[in-house]
Amino acid sequence: MEPPSLRINTLKTSRSRFGGKLTAWQITASPHPFHPDGLILADDPLPLSHTLAFFRGEFFYQGISSQLPVIALDPQPGETILDMCAAPGSKSTQIAAAMANQGRLWINDASTKRLQALMANLTAAGVMNDIVTALPGQLIGRLLPEQFDRILVDAPCSALSNWPKRIKEAHWSPAYLNKISYLQEQLLISAIKAARVGGIIVYSTCSICPEEDEMVLERILARYPVEMEPLPFSPAPFVRPGLSGYAGHSFARQIECAGRVHPYPLPYEGFFVARLRKTGPLPIRPVTTPLQYQPTLAADAPEIAAILSHLHDHWGIDPAVLQNYRFIVNKNRIWMMDSAWEQTPDRTFMMAGLPLALRKSHAWRLLNQSVQFLDAQVSKRHLELSDQDLLALFEHGHIPAPHGPLSYHALTLGGRPIAALAQADGCFSIHLPHHFHIRPETLAAERGL
Ligand SMILES: C[S@@+](CC[C@H](N)C(=O)[O-])C[C@H]1O[C@@H](n2cnc3c(N)ncnc32)[C@H](O)[C@@H]1O
Repeated sequence: MEPPSLRINTLKTSRSRFGGKLTAWQITASPHPFHPDGLILADDPLPLSHTLAFFRGEFFYQGISSQLPVIALDPQPGETILDMCAAPGSKSTQIAAAMANQGRLWINDASTKRLQALMANLTAAGVMNDIVTALPGQLIGRLLPEQFDRILVDAPCSALSNWPKRIKEAHWSPAYLNKISYLQEQLLISAIKAARVGGIIVYSTCSICPEEDEMVLERILARYPVEMEPLPFSPAPFVRPGLSGYAGHSFARQIECAGRVHPYPLPYEGFFVARLRKTGPLPIRPVTTPLQYQPTLAADAPEIAAILSHLHDHWGIDPAVLQNYRFIVNKNRIWMMDSAWEQTPDRTFMMAGLPLALRKSHAWRLLNQSVQFLDAQVSKRHLELSDQDLLALFEHGHIPAPHGPLSYHALTLGGRPIAALAQADGCFSIHLPHHFHIRPETLAAERGL
């Protein structure tokens, strides 16, 4: 069994602050061999998913191998990056953290159902330099040719990282393998078209089947202007080079630059990672219906300025803090995003940036995640509860409150805003993720750190 592992979300906390909580909770962790924010836990007795740190998106459970593709991608703040097959978003949130929430992160997945979990994860992580679309990845190269500095193709795959278990599954057959590897190749071709010349493309699967890994790469390298680059974490004890041959056939030498993690002798999830650089242009047939774009709004657009003024009066948020973001607003909701997003596509567009507030009858109500993101900037309407009331609130979603007109508060812990509360009908109430509750013994460390 792979040990529990996680990645600290540096958009929400720091390594030292989170490390302090682990120490207080007597949880032993060793560092991920290649990721400074990754931790491998000896055990997860609480578990950590029953802490306020989890509610605040301070960390995500993410496998040791699953952190490797984004390390290979090496995203930088301010770049334009595509995550082509992104749901449920472990790697998207890792990319956003590496970009320090700056630049443009285009997040896509073909499955609108899986995108729901992805959007919840992005919001929990406090990602605000993203837009989310639901396009077939194969189309993106023609819709967005030569636009991206870096692209991650974390491709759909047979997930054959555990031979005995997977191979018994009903869908697994040679015909399925042909179908999935054809899709992987199409997605990779699309990514090559979407990358700028000189841009980086990382191809990864959680399968160790050569038909989905080296063989896909071999067909691509023979026909497209890309070359393989060494991985920043290879060679390493648990990362083997790409295969030099398979079934009597030798692969091109450069394919050995890829990395394979096998689920033995260490119990890590099987993974394949390859880093490619686009070396030249290629012909791209234009689409008949290009994407249309809509401008986002600046903080001084009258509609936005009025909302920011309300947020100042009601929540004490200094409008100057929000000056450098861009905004989208509809009848019920306002979103904020990095200033690099001057426009967003209007077809198959799901979300942009971080939801900032909901329009209610008489006020704009902040959301848990925007309260957490804005943190100390939310300086009014604080409400600190006793441990007992806080635990009851997180257990039931509501607790008794004095009667009075509908109002909203920023729930604080140790003076630090952590969530949005409504007060109505003699109750304080909070929106919580399903089945979430807090282990009482974890509260003291959360208050102190
Ligand atoms: C291995 S999962 C991605 C995991 C994700 N990168 C993460 O780290 O959480 C592959 C994803 O590809 C998506 N997918 C399948 N076919 C696709 C297509 N044609 N275009 C884009 N995404 C596709 C699936 O819906 C699935 O979410």
